[in-house]
Amino acid sequence: MSEYVPDERAKWAWDIIRNRRAVRDFDLTRPISDDVIYRVLEAGTWAPSPENWQPWRYILITDPAIKQFIGEKTVRACIRDFGVAMPRRIVEEHYSYFRRKRISEYVVDIMATGQRMDYAKKAPMQVAIVFDAECTGFEDYPTVVGMFAGMQSINMGLICAGNTLVNMWNMASAMGFGAVFTDFAITHQDDEAEIARVLNVPYPRWRIAGFFCMGWPAFPRTVGPPRYPVEALTFENQWGNFWEPKKKPTW
Ligand SMILES: Cc1cc2nc3c(=O)[nH]c(=O)nc-3n(C[C@H](O)[C@H](O)[C@H](O)COP(=O)(O)O)c2cc1C
Repeated sequence: MSEYVPDERAKWAWDIIRNRRAVRDFDLTRPISDDVIYRVLEAGTWAPSPENWQPWRYILITDPAIKQFIGEKTVRACIRDFGVAMPRRIVEEHYSYFRRKRISEYVVDIMATGQRMDYAKKAPMQVAIVFDAECTGFEDYPTVVGMFAGMQSINMGLICAGNTLVNMWNMASAMGFGAVFTDFAITHQDDEAEIARVLNVPYPRWRIAGFFCMGWPAFPRTVGPPRYPVEALTFENQWGNFWEPKKKPTW
């Protein structure tokens, strides 16, 4: 049996994936130049999609008034979910990975008051990720099978939105920028329709997945939520039958 030996590229890829974090504190004194924005969006375009449909579009928000509008919706939705709907005890439990009580209480407070989402009002780079909810292909691209088969799938469009997002997020992180994604502003359909009107999105064929926000990080983010181990999430052949790996990576 051949032994897998990781090379430098594999180690870099793991390092980028493993150390990407949601960064919500940006240095607002440092703008982001267009070449950086371009490369991050370009990373997004190299995401995989069915038949290479690329059913994503990006709306770069540069107008401070529109940013403010989206940011306010984001903050209000955060208050609605974390400050009103969820009992404080549950929110505290959720953030218990912050070992120091003073820090976890602070995080609970800024979630309950929506302050944690303030970044969405001023993020140096803010991009709405819009996806084709029908994902039937394009009229000017007649080789697309789905168009003839009458195939419709919101799932495909949404999966692709996720793919393009993760490419952008990992690229941003690898370049040393901080980034996060927020969908708070569109978690209620009325809000999504309103934002779609403001952004002139041909809704509901094209839907808004959420907003990718990026900037120079105000400080490095070290602590973040942990992950379940693979073996707690992976079944073998049948749901409930946990996979037991015979070997795990040592790198
Ligand atoms: C689909 C999706 C929606 C998210 N929504 C929000 C959001 O509305 N606001 C926010 O600040 N972070 C949001 N996040 C970021 C997550 O909270 C974050 O990725 C998660 O807690 C894991 O932390 P990490 O990215 O630092 O590993 C979202 C992430 C994803 C993928």
